[in-house]
Amino acid sequence: MANTNNKTNTPGEGIPRHIAIILDGNGRWAKKRGLPRTAGHAVGAETFRKIATYCKDIGVDYLTVYAFSTENWKRPPAEVRTIMALLNRYLQEAVDTMERDHIRMKVLGDISALSEEQRALVAKTEEISSHYEGFQANICINYGGRDEILHAARRYAEDFAAGKADALTEERFGGYLYSAGIPDPDLLIRPGGEQRLSNFLLWQCAYAEFYFTDVLWPDFGPEELDRAIEAYRRRDRRYGGVK
Ligand code: IPE
Ligand code: IPE
Ligand code: MG
Repeated sequence: MANTNNKTNTPGEGIPRHIAIILDGNGRWAKKRGLPRTAGHAVGAETFRKIATYCKDIGVDYLTVYAFSTENWKRPPAEVRTIMALLNRYLQEAVDTMERDHIRMKVLGDISALSEEQRALVAKTEEISSHYEGFQANICINYGGRDEILHAARRYAEDFAAGKADALTEERFGGYLYSAGIPDPDLLIRPGGEQRLSNFLLWQCAYAEFYFTDVLWPDFGPEELDRAIEAYRRRDRRYGGVK
């Protein structure tokens, strides 16, 4: 069956409309320098700021980053606390600068597990975003692809039982995901050397082009993103058809 979601994904000028990145390699980056893993997360947060600005400048419409997975709670509590504190700081900064820069932002994931402060910041970013169009940054926090699909299935079942939902189609199901309304990623980048999805955007990456690099996330700069886009441009996206 044709995936209607992909029809809107024709990127202009060879720039992917939607780039997704698994922010990986912070811990190893720090270890190589004899620093605590948390130092890697701090530099990684800075890298994210730079790459988001670069994406906006080159005409990417959506950047989705995997910042904290549903599995990352297994890490030592001190590391989890540091990551959450960095995310809070990032959300707070976003609230302060989104209006100036006309940036839209969305948090994807099960935010019910986040602190009250974080949930308030998430609500604030969503409220500000509703006033703008254009570049959108999506930050995945307490996100898991399987969790997202289950959450969507439960919500659909509730609506169906209440007589509020029509028969399920791919498009309708997509409307129940955290990513509702966001086109599927065209390009998925994983720095850090691992070649796996680690539960990221399982539904949405059905036809994404994958780019893996050994560069660790804190070392990832615009030139590395250009390399990924170059590789993407050489891909032949057939969506199961023939060309
Ligand atoms: C990614 O870097 C950040 C998160 C998963 C929160 P890692 O912390 O996974 O870094 P490595 O993979 O151990 O180097
Ligand atoms: C994936 O990285 C999750 C995020 C980047 C948020 P991990 O470091 O958690 O993935 P694994 O454990 O190597 O699969
Ligand atoms: Mg990792």
